[in-house]
Amino acid sequence: MSRILILHGPNLNLLGRREPDVYGRVTLAEIDAALRSLAAQLGAEIKVMQSNSEGELIEAIHAAADWAEAILINPAAYTHYSIALRDALAGVDLPVIEVHLTNIFAREDFRAGSVIAPVAAGMIAGLGPEAYLLGLRAAINLAERRSPA
Ligand code: DQA
Repeated sequence: MSRILILHGPNLNLLGRREPDVYGRVTLAEIDAALRSLAAQLGAEIKVMQSNSEGELIEAIHAAADWAEAILINPAAYTHYSIALRDALAGVDLPVIEVHLTNIFAREDFRAGSVIAPVAAGMIAGLGPEAYLLGLRAAINLAERRSPA
């Protein structure tokens, strides 16, 4: 059974009422429920955490180093500038899938760069909540490739 750490970055707890014209009306609880249901269907074990704090996200990555086999992360605004988060992900040597609800390349210029992408195995940007579900499938595939059953 693959073990996947799922991390949601800052302000994603506000999904559903945060800029709904940009992020839609689906709440984070609904996204997490869909992730849990897909994980159960695919036989994966997931740990899910949201934090508005860079340090807490980094601690969660360190803590998962000996447990997780892959990490699925929406780094939210940290995507664009957190070298600390990038270094944490690079430091634990686990495959990383980066996801975004919106297509960051089709928005403001300051969102078009990701400091996380160079240490990720892949990125899914756009598609709304579906990005997370596609991302979970990708993370499970990568985890399985690391430790074949
Ligand atoms: C986001 C895109 C980021 O630019 C933004 O800061 C977010 C959410 C997304 O999922 O589309 O908070 O990561």
